[in-house]
Amino acid sequence: MSQPLQYRPLRRSTLDVSELVQDGRVHSAVFTDRDIYEQELDRIFHGSWLYIGHTSEVPKKGDFRTRQMGKQPVVMIRGTDGQVRVLLNRCRHRGAVVCEKEAGNTKHLRCWYHGWVYDSTGRLTQVPAVEAYGEDFTLEKMSLASPPMVEEYRGFIFASLSANVVPLRDHLGKAAEMMDLLIDASPVGEIRVSAGVHKTVYRGNWKLVGMDGYHVHYVHASVIAAWNRNSDTGIGATHRGDPFDDHSASRTRDLGHGHAMLDLTTHRMSHYEKFTEMLAGVTGGTEYVQAMHAKHGEKARLLISLAGDPHVGFFPNLQLINNQIRIMNPLGPDETEVLMFPVLFEGVSSELNEMRLRQHESFYGPAGSGSPDDGEIFERVQKGLHAQVEPWVEISRGMNREKTLDDGTVEGLITDEVPQRGQFREWLNLMTGDAK
Ligand code: FES
Ligand SMILES: [Fe+2]
Repeated sequence: MSQPLQYRPLRRSTLDVSELVQDGRVHSAVFTDRDIYEQELDRIFHGSWLYIGHTSEVPKKGDFRTRQMGKQPVVMIRGTDGQVRVLLNRCRHRGAVVCEKEAGNTKHLRCWYHGWVYDSTGRLTQVPAVEAYGEDFTLEKMSLASPPMVEEYRGFIFASLSANVVPLRDHLGKAAEMMDLLIDASPVGEIRVSAGVHKTVYRGNWKLVGMDGYHVHYVHASVIAAWNRNSDTGIGATHRGDPFDDHSASRTRDLGHGHAMLDLTTHRMSHYEKFTEMLAGVTGGTEYVQAMHAKHGEKARLLISLAGDPHVGFFPNLQLINNQIRIMNPLGPDETEVLMFPVLFEGVSSELNEMRLRQHESFYGPAGSGSPDDGEIFERVQKGLHAQVEPWVEISRGMNREKTLDDGTVEGLITDEVPQRGQFREWLNLMTGDAK
């Protein structure tokens, strides 16, 4: 008879991060332990590239959005010179945030503590009774700070609080092509993030929001049943055939650097006619299809079928799923905020964008059919992970059948845990390596 399992508490002094991720399994401490969480903030959220926002969120001079980089508050703001900057939201005097609103337009960022004023480029312009400081005090030296690395890929602004990172384009690698699939689904190659945001907070670890093709039939059973009942019309029509079955042509992919996706391309393309039929019923839909073909030729079939949904997660804080850009903000080892920004296309009719919004709401909105299920299951996982007699979390599904392709990416069947393994490989690199 095998020995009964015994609970052996982890001693913080002996907690060796490098042993917490092993072949096909991870230790639950990576989801529950506060010390590990603090290290994640330092090494991942304060030490590598994070997505901040999209330039279309701040179209006019003075437009701003406040965001988080781990624990550190930042402002994305378009200056009077037209440039979009990321500034640390912290007064250079005694540290108060200088921008307390989530979004707006302003000429100045004025600190409410003692009235220091910064312009929209971050320059300090006014200090009340400035003569109280000595001669070597100059306004120029006291601009708002910026993260050392800020770069943009086709309107997507990323920043890193550490300079010790590879250039953004290298960091995105193969995953940049997936971002293109979203942007190029607009006939003019431009998206607009101006439809507001859905926010949700769940009591679970930030890494639980993954790319998981295995859960759909169980967590979303009621949605699938509804889709099947409506399979001849509307959105249900585009789900006919089961894209989340291992016999389907759907795949999981590890794209490197922790970026991973559920690749539903073949399934979606097999419904191309259904998509164009649906578009024909929308004002401007036929013109959209024509414009896409005129611009992209054969590739238009792919872009129209995917409808701007590459279904990819960019480690650690960004996902492009369905009609949305999603940001994950860790609030603690057991608390996470998820921000969901619906994406609109430039160059299409307002009716077509309206349809995209309604689709987004139906699954992801506050009364949507899908998102609340995901939040609920993450909370149940977090609860379960505190039972630690046997502390290992299995992520080995499909290890025996995954393939490394010529371009270095790893491919598995749709229910395989290829994305989880890719994400944890990057997690381990960042938590134990010297970065870069
Ligand atoms: S803390 Fe901002 S003016 Fe004093
Ligand atoms: Fe889900």
